[in-house]
Amino acid sequence: MSELGFLFENNTRWAEEIKAEDPEFFKKLASQQSPQFLWIGCSDSRVPANEIVGLLPGELFVHRNIANAVVHTDLNCLSVLYYAVSVLKIKHIIVCGHYGCGGIQAALGDKQMGLADHWLRNIRDIYYNKREQFEDSLSERDRVNLLCELNVAQQVANVTHTSIVQNAWDQGQDLSVHGWIYDIGDGLLKKLTPVIDTLDKIPEQYRVRKQL
Ligand code: CO
Repeated sequence: MSELGFLFENNTRWAEEIKAEDPEFFKKLASQQSPQFLWIGCSDSRVPANEIVGLLPGELFVHRNIANAVVHTDLNCLSVLYYAVSVLKIKHIIVCGHYGCGGIQAALGDKQMGLADHWLRNIRDIYYNKREQFEDSLSERDRVNLLCELNVAQQVANVTHTSIVQNAWDQGQDLSVHGWIYDIGDGLLKKLTPVIDTLDKIPEQYRVRKQL
């Protein structure tokens, strides 16, 4: 058997288990998907989106990158956001960070990490802008976890500052943006930021004009 044979064995078993519950499951999914949620999370292997929230294939549209960042020039994330909101008409966008995030830790440190440094600069900017909240008495772990939380709040804001989300609200679409954080130490999720579901909940300076 090849080195990765066990992955195929796992896959066969997984598909059989699902079919035992619902013989038509994959047939139905093959023709369409209608997820209600977009998950924007970290790539970290300890934070598997579907499993954490107990959702099946077809129920969660997912985008993951290092430190769950929503960067305004990132065509990849913006394309996922656009497709989820404008085509699939999902109802909830969940930005989910996690404590002990390696990307956040790297963004706080001064070691060169290669190409990823350019990505993590976005996170370092959050730290710099909020540096007064980082009291000297905080341990290294607490500093990382505080930035994990501040990062979620900033990425939630970044989602709401896009014309994609604002146009959806303008067109009367039911769409809420949530900021959560996951604890890899106990497997539990926590709500972090107030739900944003209307234009008046975002600063005026970030509102864009209606589409012509
Ligand atoms: Co992470």
